Amino acid sequence: MTCTIIVGGFFGDEGKGKIVAHIAHQDNPTIIARGGVGPNAGHTVQVGDRQYGVRMVPSGFVYPDARLCIGSGVLVDPRVLLNELDTLDAHRRCFVDFRCGIIEEEHILRDKASDHLRETIGSTGTGCGPANADRVMRTGRLARDLPELQPYLLDVPAAVNAEIENGNSVLLEGTQGFGISLYYGTYPYVTSKDTSASQIAADIGVGPTVIDDVVVVFKAYPTRVGEGPFSTEMSHDESTALGLQEFGTVTHRERRIGAWDGEMARYSAMINGCTQAAITGIDKVDHACAGVTEFRRLSPRAKEFLRDAEADIGRPITLISTGPELSQIIDLRAEYCT
Ligand code: GTP
Ligand code: IMP
Ligand code: MG
Repeated sequence: MTCTIIVGGFFGDEGKGKIVAHIAHQDNPTIIARGGVGPNAGHTVQVGDRQYGVRMVPSGFVYPDARLCIGSGVLVDPRVLLNELDTLDAHRRCFVDFRCGIIEEEHILRDKASDHLRETIGSTGTGCGPANADRVMRTGRLARDLPELQPYLLDVPAAVNAEIENGNSVLLEGTQGFGISLYYGTYPYVTSKDTSASQIAADIGVGPTVIDDVVVVFKAYPTRVGEGPFSTEMSHDESTALGLQEFGTVTHRERRIGAWDGEMARYSAMINGCTQAAITGIDKVDHACAGVTEFRRLSPRAKEFLRDAEADIGRPITLISTGPELSQIIDLRAEYCT
């Protein structure tokens, strides 16, 4: 039974949602809790023909047998949350820590009206930066103050740690990615909080000594939305020629696309304390690998890419995603089991 953290190794949108959903179905966690900034995140999970996009509810929701928790470090936009709970019919199994910070309409207005945040940084306009600023100034509201959130309130760390004590598996999901961490990313072109595994543990209230695994998710072709340096960025013509266009889940902005960045992968694996890595988008390295579920069926080109990426990361690549759909994955974790 394990306590696993899943975080993004590049600039966000690495496909953490899909990896979390897969691990959940394999490991049968009793709780899936999310950390990270707030509704600036957009996780996509595709099951069969159905595609879901979630911003507040943990992306493990497609696994039906776990309680879904939002950790105290996360900012909650009650409008977004209650909407998603309606859409997903998840009212009875989703819980919010009573200490979560709240995004109010006014935070969204401030985010959108600020030239600095919207234009210079390229924020998502979801109110996260201003709400975290108020939280730091100790003027913000908390989840426990809102009547509409009363039915969902929980002491999330107590619930998560009780499951761990009882020998059950729990999944702690991160959002955003290493390159947009307030501490370790390309400041000032970053989000309003650290995004590394230690922060995700703190967001959910789990101490470092009880974490068994840190899965860092990298995408074969990293992407970045918003402004800021991106050393391996390709020209638009180059990425289009490779068929690599992507659009954001939250803002629908076109994502900037780059080539694999080995140096960043290694540094990010170090700061995250990576124990295993997941690589998404192997079908983009070689279209012949789309939907493959066995390692031996990958093409020589894909295997070479993975060998080089593993050398960069310095940790085993145990999950290889070969397409957006939940079942399109190669899971080698059992082979690396200690
Ligand atoms: P943030 O928390 O916002 O950082 O998002 P995320 O890491 O959950 O990723 P997001 O869902 O925003 O973006 C990943 C995109 O890649 C989605 O459209 C996924 O459906 C898609 N995706 C995930 N894995 C694969 C894969 O192996 N191949 C392809 N082609 N697409 C994938
Ligand atoms: P903010 O978090 O909305 O303030 O945005 C700050 C920067 O982080 C901008 O460049 C955003 O595009 C980026 N960002 C925030 N959340 C995500 C995410 O979930 N995925 C990718 N980029 C993000
Ligand atoms: Mg996303």
